[in-house]
Amino acid sequence: MEKLIRIALDGPSGSGKSTIAKALSSKLNILYLDTGAMYRATALKAIKCNVDSFDEKGVNTFINDIDLKIKYIDGTQHTFLDGEDVSSKIREPHVSMMASNISSLKAVRLKMVDMQREIAKSTSCVLDGRDIGSYVLPNADYKFYITASVEVRANRRYKELLEKGHQVDFEELKKEIEQRDYNDKHRDFAPLTQAEDAVLIDTSDMSIEEVCNTVLGYVNK
Ligand code: DC
Repeated sequence: MEKLIRIALDGPSGSGKSTIAKALSSKLNILYLDTGAMYRATALKAIKCNVDSFDEKGVNTFINDIDLKIKYIDGTQHTFLDGEDVSSKIREPHVSMMASNISSLKAVRLKMVDMQREIAKSTSCVLDGRDIGSYVLPNADYKFYITASVEVRANRRYKELLEKGHQVDFEELKKEIEQRDYNDKHRDFAPLTQAEDAVLIDTSDMSIEEVCNTVLGYVNK
């Protein structure tokens, strides 16, 4: 049987993880799972149910039976909530902060981690997130912690949102990213952290191509 390979990519938002994960998945012909999409869809569910993202009791009423599915259409991940393709909706700016808040709840994390491990169980894959190398797949074959200065990350997100037609204030966006960094690093359960055996890559002054080549350099060794 062919050996499965699993790659964990962690880091704060805007560090370039998802672009790198997509490139790796296509170069190595392995599945890419964007785990942030799952927390975003859970935030959307809370909005639908009129539940605040910090309301543990309210979230507990739906989390175990959440109808959340990841499907691959022409090789691209689509996220379905209650049968609806919410892949675009979950990218709306107001969902980002809610996703960060809701992801601090233990019940949410346990449910998402179960689903992620189930997907990763029988296939070669690259997962990007916050806790992949440290918690979800501690035995991953390769682990990378991708980061960049907050200024650079805010700038990347700013351009991305403008391209999608969203009106955003740069300083507001930067503040929001700092707040999300703080939330993600300081939650009690499985916070954002660099796994001890992860390779640290600061992408502030690197092109996507340089980062991909660096990562591939390790994977192809
Ligand atoms: O990667 P992203 O920006 O789409 O993630 C949205 C939020 O989900 C992020 O602020 C923190 C949370 N998240 C998490 O807690 N653990 C993961 N593995 C992935 C995302």
